[in-house]
Amino acid sequence: MNSIPLSAPDITEAEIEAVTSVLRTNSLSLGPGLEEFEALLSERHRHTSAIAVSSGTAALHLAIRALNIGPHDEVIVPSFTFIAVANAVLYEGAAPVFVDIDPATFNMNPALVEAAITSRTRAIVVVHTFGVPAELDAFCDIAQRHQLYLIEDACEAIGATYHGHPVGTFGDIAVFGFYPNKQITTGEGGALLVRDPQLAHRIRAMRNQGRYPTDDWFQHRELGFNYRLSEMACALGIAQLKRLESVLALRANVASLYHQRLAEFSAIQCPISHFADRSISWFVYVIRIAEYASVGIRDCLVKRLAERGIASGRYFAPIHHQPAFEAFSQAHPSHLPITEAVAQRTVALPFFNRMTSIQIDSVSDAIRSILQEENAL
Ligand SMILES: Cc1ncc(COP(=O)(O)O)c(C=O)c1O
Repeated sequence: MNSIPLSAPDITEAEIEAVTSVLRTNSLSLGPGLEEFEALLSERHRHTSAIAVSSGTAALHLAIRALNIGPHDEVIVPSFTFIAVANAVLYEGAAPVFVDIDPATFNMNPALVEAAITSRTRAIVVVHTFGVPAELDAFCDIAQRHQLYLIEDACEAIGATYHGHPVGTFGDIAVFGFYPNKQITTGEGGALLVRDPQLAHRIRAMRNQGRYPTDDWFQHRELGFNYRLSEMACALGIAQLKRLESVLALRANVASLYHQRLAEFSAIQCPISHFADRSISWFVYVIRIAEYASVGIRDCLVKRLAERGIASGRYFAPIHHQPAFEAFSQAHPSHLPITEAVAQRTVALPFFNRMTSIQIDSVSDAIRSILQEENAL
């Protein structure tokens, strides 16, 4: 039996060649690849300054730090997301304030965000969960009225659009991630888009140990980090970014095939696949066990799919329930009924660019037979 992974990077021979050819040069870091990758990212995003870094987490950390957010400040974030979102706030001694989500899109609910604002709130990190753009009109409006920074976390959403404009171009800063499970990958990697050129200048220096472009190698004007992205990674990123449109089409096709196969199972809710005002950049395909069905079916599905060689996973386990957040959550209890309910019922299915219809059939057939065995059809 062939196993089906949860995700799989899609690397072409030309991309392997592009990476290999960098290794034949003398420039393995801070070279022409970085400039080109950033220029391409900037071009795609209404010419906002783009800064490539070593991960999405590094991008989030630089965003929080560059906005001078620190102790006694609060930053509004979702809990139904990847842990790096809250960790980046903690790195700078500020407090994440978890806000609940909209059960239909899994994105933060703007009305609840507004209710969570206090005199200590400095920023909102709005995550475009699973590649579905959040309600950006509402978030921009809230941020403006309350004079807060808006950070878009587009790590899961490169190429998605809201009212025809790419996500990442609405906030003061946006972050992207290029881990191998993402729509495009650099192995490890990430990027920031920064609206204010002065701020971008500072973030570029912070990425490179606090050195500014005219500084020599041992001149460090402020606390910096090594968050640089290698030339090999940039070469891969350039090639992948150039074919983003076709990647998005491949992924939309996989999502549509899943929808056709799974929509008939009433025990399962498929993700929303169409919005009038935004386009999705499919990151993962997350189904939800219907309300009337037993919660236990989710874990049973994950276990029985694994027995058949099919990977799946709960997506997400809420941040405020993570062991690393135990003490924090005791000190700062959160009221997140939708996050709690949704997180028990969601499961990500195998999802990648080159997934074949045969593989999609195998996953769907396996789900059908497991649901039948559980009398959940
Ligand atoms: C929403 C979100 N933010 C941040 C990150 C962190 O990105 P990285 O793994 O590149 O550090 C991820 C990664 O999965 C993510 O999904």
